[in-house]
Amino acid sequence: MAIFNLNINGKKQTVDVDPKTPMLWVLREHIKLVGTKYGCGVAACGACTIHFDGIAVRSCQLPVSAVGNKLITTIEGLSENGDHPVQKAWLEHDVAQCGYCQTGQIMSAAAFLKKNPNPTDEQIESAMNGNICRCATYLRIKAAVKTAAKSQTL
Ligand code: FES
Ligand code: FES
Repeated sequence: MAIFNLNINGKKQTVDVDPKTPMLWVLREHIKLVGTKYGCGVAACGACTIHFDGIAVRSCQLPVSAVGNKLITTIEGLSENGDHPVQKAWLEHDVAQCGYCQTGQIMSAAAFLKKNPNPTDEQIESAMNGNICRCATYLRIKAAVKTAAKSQTL
């Protein structure tokens, strides 16, 4: 076990855990931020996506020992009131079905649009390709990413 001082959603959090513990479990079990979901545990689904220094990463594959003082953002910290352009577009398009994959979808989309605010359809498809949705909400996801991109440039 070891002590780690983390910067999560702009707040300092201290945890005492095995250094190999994936951030997914640090977030869910120790900090009680359960918006980040466990899907596969092997980097194959994207349900556990968070931002690590602004980059979308799979928290099931990010050991707490690799985080240092870099900023971690989870779905709970993406916006103050659920009003990030991606979240608003998701509501507008009623994207979620069961909802399980949606945290990861939104976090991937938000990081992608920050890097590429005016994407083509192909770029959206390629960026969102690694986030699996068993309810097949892919068409609504794509439409919502396009709406979010437009609203960001208004
Ligand atoms: S739970 Fe991390 S990619 Fe599936
Ligand atoms: S909305 Fe059900 S898995 Fe994506």
